[in-house]
Amino acid sequence: MRQVRKARPLIFRKRKETDDSFLVSSTMQIMGQVYKDSIGTPLTERFVRDQLNTSQETVIVERVNKPIGYYNYSLYSPERAYFGALILLPDAQAKGIGKQVLKHFENQMQSRGIRTIEGHVQTANSRAIVFWLKNGFRIVDMPMRGLLAVEKELSPLPKL
Ligand SMILES: CC(C)(COP(=O)(O)OP(=O)(O)OC[C@H]1O[C@@H](n2cnc3c(N)ncnc32)[C@H](O)[C@@H]1OP(=O)(O)O)[C@@H](O)C(=O)NCCC(=O)NCCS
Repeated sequence: MRQVRKARPLIFRKRKETDDSFLVSSTMQIMGQVYKDSIGTPLTERFVRDQLNTSQETVIVERVNKPIGYYNYSLYSPERAYFGALILLPDAQAKGIGKQVLKHFENQMQSRGIRTIEGHVQTANSRAIVFWLKNGFRIVDMPMRGLLAVEKELSPLPKL
């Protein structure tokens, strides 16, 4: 009988200091070209570290004890979250994992009373633009300095 392989569950954990070399090198490798094509200047390690350090929380996504990506966000003003980054390693892309990670994040935000998630996507990152639009985000402004502003309204959880 044919065996059906079950996808291993995703694990979400907080960033530790020892994650930083993985975070910086994977971001440079995955985002370098699209950043340069959109913004016009090279992505620098310093910029990536600043982004990581100014986000309130960075979450590492793991499968079978190995990091396969990360996201980060900050909460601000009442009921809004800024989604700073969502990056999966190339082997983990286009398998529905991004959608799963986003769902997890949205559920977490909903349970914390967040009503709007906002973020930016590089104008040359057409794959990511398709991803955000397919997942319920809308473009809310004209492109500015190589970035498109996107956002999604979350419905409030029913009161018990
Ligand atoms: C953008 C990203 C987070 C999406 O996650 P993902 O796991 O690859 O996306 P999913 O497999 O969940 O795909 C969801 C949809 O996005 C689109 N999509 C995502 N990756 C795609 C790819 N490699 N090729 C074609 N379409 C793709 C598909 O239309 C897909 O639609 P479907 O649900 O009808 O199949 C991931 O590809 C990634 O990390 N990319 C590199 C980093 C990046 O650009 N991050 C976003 C910065 S704003």
